[in-house]
Amino acid sequence: MNLDQEEILKLKKEKNAIILAHNYQPAEIQEIADFMGDSLELCIKVSEIEDADLVVFCGVDFMAETAAILNPSKKILIPDPQAECPMAHMLPAEELRKYKEKYPDAAVVLYVNTMAEAKAEADILCTSANAVKVVKSVDEDQILFGPDMNLAWHVQQQTDKEIIPIPEKGHCYVHKMFNSADITFSRENYPDAEVLVHPECDGEVQKLADHVLSTGGMIRHVAESSQKTFLIGTEVDMITRLRREYPHKLIYPLLDEAICETMKLHTLEKVKGSLMEEKFLVTVSQEIADKARSAVEKMLEVS
Ligand code: 13P
Ligand code: SF4
Repeated sequence: MNLDQEEILKLKKEKNAIILAHNYQPAEIQEIADFMGDSLELCIKVSEIEDADLVVFCGVDFMAETAAILNPSKKILIPDPQAECPMAHMLPAEELRKYKEKYPDAAVVLYVNTMAEAKAEADILCTSANAVKVVKSVDEDQILFGPDMNLAWHVQQQTDKEIIPIPEKGHCYVHKMFNSADITFSRENYPDAEVLVHPECDGEVQKLADHVLSTGGMIRHVAESSQKTFLIGTEVDMITRLRREYPHKLIYPLLDEAICETMKLHTLEKVKGSLMEEKFLVTVSQEIADKARSAVEKMLEVS
């Protein structure tokens, strides 16, 4: 532990705070987090928090907003308010309403990587961990699904329902960096490795992988697999977490450049500031939060 980390742990106690971190947070934040997880695990955790007075959320905007929606009685703080997920802004509520008018009979299944106002327009939410299960759970055969076209493709491979990706080309710039050559080249170097990729990667990359998993699914898979070597196709700090927790396994990134820049905006200095000054408060208007909560809670019931 360095000095900043020790101060944070002290402040955390004084303020009765809990620190949550997404799996893409850097090592120094991982080391001070009370709980780490994928989007679904973080949603579940937030909905269960009772005792803490403050929740410091080291993740991107849509995750912190989801926390505020799920636990409105808690103060949810984000250390750097500029930590935005560009994909979550690709399907504004106004655009979604136009799609709903065009397809009045379709169910709206939204990826949790959307902003609160869009979530409020959804029938049900999903994450990369439960998207197929959620789509199969709805009665309608036609589904408006967004904003990630690759997750939409992933779901379409596993259901007969008609999946309509909205917007047409919503994507994550980090997972778009991977291509099939990254897998074929890496397999030559590590022929015994299992290849795990995230469903935000292109379809051609998903087809070449051994498993397509959420970040939480990757952790469980590495823990349970008898294999020793893994090639990981997602954000690089996922490899940091896997190496910390499974030091006897060999974990390699498929691509060193796969960095989610905004996830890295949270630093120890900013976490400290967040705890000391109780900033930056994440707020969602009650009307939007109430509507969005029902879509998130429906997802939690299905998960
Ligand atoms: P997970 O829910 O799998 O952690 O994914 C979140 C995300 O933003 C991936 O880019
Ligand atoms: Fe958003 Fe992509 Fe970063 Fe995930 S990796 S938070 S989808 S920009």
